[in-house]
Amino acid sequence: MKKVCTNKLTDEKFKALDEFIDKLSYKDGALITVLHKAQEIFGYLPVEVQLHVAQKLDMPAAKVNGVVTFYSYFSETPKGEHVISVCLGTACFVRGAENIIKEFEKRLSIKPGQTTADGKFSIDALRCVGACGLAPVVMVDGKVYGRVKVEDVDAILKNYI
Ligand code: FES
Repeated sequence: MKKVCTNKLTDEKFKALDEFIDKLSYKDGALITVLHKAQEIFGYLPVEVQLHVAQKLDMPAAKVNGVVTFYSYFSETPKGEHVISVCLGTACFVRGAENIIKEFEKRLSIKPGQTTADGKFSIDALRCVGACGLAPVVMVDGKVYGRVKVEDVDAILKNYI
C-alpha cells in the first residue's frame, strides 16, 4: 500500500504506529486500542491511516472506517488549533447546552466534528465531563468554562483570536 508523506503524515509516525501494533500480544479485538494510539500519533485518522491499520490488523478497511465514524471521539479531519468541547450530558443539556453549541456553530460556521477553514477552531460535542455542578460546561483546549450562557460565547471566542 502506498503511504502518503506530508509534513503531518510522516514515515516516522507510521513507524511509531507499527511498533505499537507489533508489540500487542493480541490482534483480535485490538482495533479500538490501535485507533486511539493512531489518533494520538497523527492527531486525527485520515483514510491513509485507516487503510494502514486495516492492513496491519488484517481486517477489511470498511470495518475500520465503520468504527472511526461510529465513535465521535475519532476524527477523520485534523483538529483546529483550539478545540471547543461543549458538554451535552443530561445536566448540561437541561441547562441549555444545545443553544450554546448552536451559538458556537453559528459564530464559526461549522458543525460539531468540523474545523474552520483557517484551521483555528474545531467544535466537539461531549458526554458528561464530570463537572455537572458547573452545568452547562464548555471546555476550550482543556480549560473549563462553567455556567456558560449564550451571551458568553463571544467573550470565550475572543480569548483565542
Ligand atoms: S452533564 Fe455536563 S458535566 Fe455532567
